[in-house]
Amino acid sequence: METLSAVLMDTIEAILTRRSIRKYNNKEVSKELINIILKCGMYAPSSYNQQLWEFIIIDKREILDKIPEIHPNSNMIREVNIAILVCGNLNEKINQSYWTQDCSAATQNLLISAASLGLGSIWLGIYPREDRIIGLKKLLNLPEHIIPFSLVPIGYSEEINEDPERFNPDKIHYNKW
Ligand SMILES: Cc1cc2nc3c(=O)[nH]c(=O)nc-3n(C[C@H](O)[C@H](O)[C@H](O)COP(=O)(O)O)c2cc1C
Repeated sequence: METLSAVLMDTIEAILTRRSIRKYNNKEVSKELINIILKCGMYAPSSYNQQLWEFIIIDKREILDKIPEIHPNSNMIREVNIAILVCGNLNEKINQSYWTQDCSAATQNLLISAASLGLGSIWLGIYPREDRIIGLKKLLNLPEHIIPFSLVPIGYSEEINEDPERFNPDKIHYNKW
């Protein structure tokens, strides 16, 4: 197996070269790498450090293959062996105002850490689309207070990454508009 140091890239490079991957080759991703990615998700900033996220690991073929019936743009899920559903946990927390931001930050950490490990991934939007939320809650038997937010398939990419130029000075504003 590749050693971690052989596959790791630095943070800036991972952020700049990460792309949404929609073609995978079905090679299995080790539990070791998935655990690193999950740990990175849990180190995201969160409002009041409440960490209102939960991570549902989907690694059963029959469940993965049902997801395109719920999410119309998720066909790539048939080519991976694992996907992480990031959910908000709205149970007994003091302040839930920022749960979507907590889950967004965690999702982004999953994507960047996967890229850093040489893995492909993609953010598939779930929340706030009612049909996807209801469909996934039913499929995974989620309790009322667990709200599916984003779905992140992870695998080995079969795409050649585009390298778009996105630095746009027009988006930067100094001191006033
Ligand atoms: C909130 C959110 C929802 C998204 N949902 C989908 C989706 O359902 N299907 C999909 O193919 N890509 C989805 N994407 C990925 C975007 O299409 C992608 O990030 C964007 O085109 C920029 O490309 P890049 O990620 O390669 O830089 C989503 C991204 C975000 C942030």
